[in-house]
Amino acid sequence: MTQIRAKITGTGKFLPDHVMTNHDLEKLVDTNDEWIQTRTGIVERRILKDPDKGTSNLATEAAKKALEDADVDAADIDAIIVATVTPDYFFPATACLVQKRIGAKKAFAFDLSAACSGFLYALTTGGNMIESGRAKKVLVIGADKMSSILNYEDRTTCILFGDGGGAVVLEATEEEAGIIDYVHYTEGDEDCALYMPGGGSKHPATAETVAQGLHYLRQDGRAIFKKAIHGMADVSLEIMERNDLTSDDVAWLVPHQANLRIIDATANRMGVSKDKVMINISHYGNTTSGTIPLCLDDWKDQLNKGDNLVLSAFGGGLTWGSIYLKWAI
Ligand code: ACO
Repeated sequence: MTQIRAKITGTGKFLPDHVMTNHDLEKLVDTNDEWIQTRTGIVERRILKDPDKGTSNLATEAAKKALEDADVDAADIDAIIVATVTPDYFFPATACLVQKRIGAKKAFAFDLSAACSGFLYALTTGGNMIESGRAKKVLVIGADKMSSILNYEDRTTCILFGDGGGAVVLEATEEEAGIIDYVHYTEGDEDCALYMPGGGSKHPATAETVAQGLHYLRQDGRAIFKKAIHGMADVSLEIMERNDLTSDDVAWLVPHQANLRIIDATANRMGVSKDKVMINISHYGNTTSGTIPLCLDDWKDQLNKGDNLVLSAFGGGLTWGSIYLKWAI
């Protein structure tokens, strides 16, 4: 029996217009452009300023562009998955709002929460739906309005993140292309090294939780850095070894954009030279679920049919993983 695979047939992105530079942050917290650039590689990030807009707006615009790029009608989409940790609401899911706005009448839609690995988990989930034969076309979106959960008085976190989103259309193919393999891991973060304490069922929102700043992202940067630098490199190497890929076989490393030093360490471990690594952290910062689809869209004109891509991420949860993807268009 022929194996059905899921290939990416279109990509799209949306970034808010407002640019927040490191110099802008110097006015808010005790930091400086040189520290931020040296420690993270970030120069500026985008911020969604409109108070009436949320992650669904980023996701919807990215989705429309991906559908146009793939030349697929929204009415033909079978499922929509939005990876995000900053949904508009707890419910309805952000994916349901996108479904309505793009007119994807027959699609069922849901959100997936896996922090910075969210897009990878969503891509394999969508891919598995297609491989099972249950779905023919799936819209996979990664979007986050990180500014909505940042404390702009905390220099250790507010400098790292930005807002943005990207989307891909997955379609069934009988070619040896698309998602070939994946490796995903989870290690429950009981120590809360990276989390948002408030707003969930444990600490529902009260005047007290707001006063205590429990609705902001908190991170033990050093602890996460140590785990991320090993986790992302190890899993990237693992996917290469499982698929007998040498560094020459890899056309592009598509890494989650959390810190340039983590990206460099991953590329070094894989033996992949820097000219084959997608890096846009300098302009967007860490957009959490958005980073990998943003890269794919930024680089799509340089991708050729048959290119081997390794997508890798590490993030809150803790979650991490890699996908081996053969570019199919
Ligand atoms: N400006 C100036 N100084 C700062 C700033 C700042 N913005 N932030 C911290 N510092 C200071 C610290 O207070 C510390 O000072 P001290 O030595 O006097 O105590 C010094 O700089 C060094 O701090 P470190 O935390 O050791 O700096 P480090 O080199 O580890 O960089 C960073 C910090 C960038 C946060 C890094 O640890 C990192 O990238 N961590 C991983 C982030 C990540 O990958 N997150 C996962 C994805 S996010 C998600 O899933 C939602």
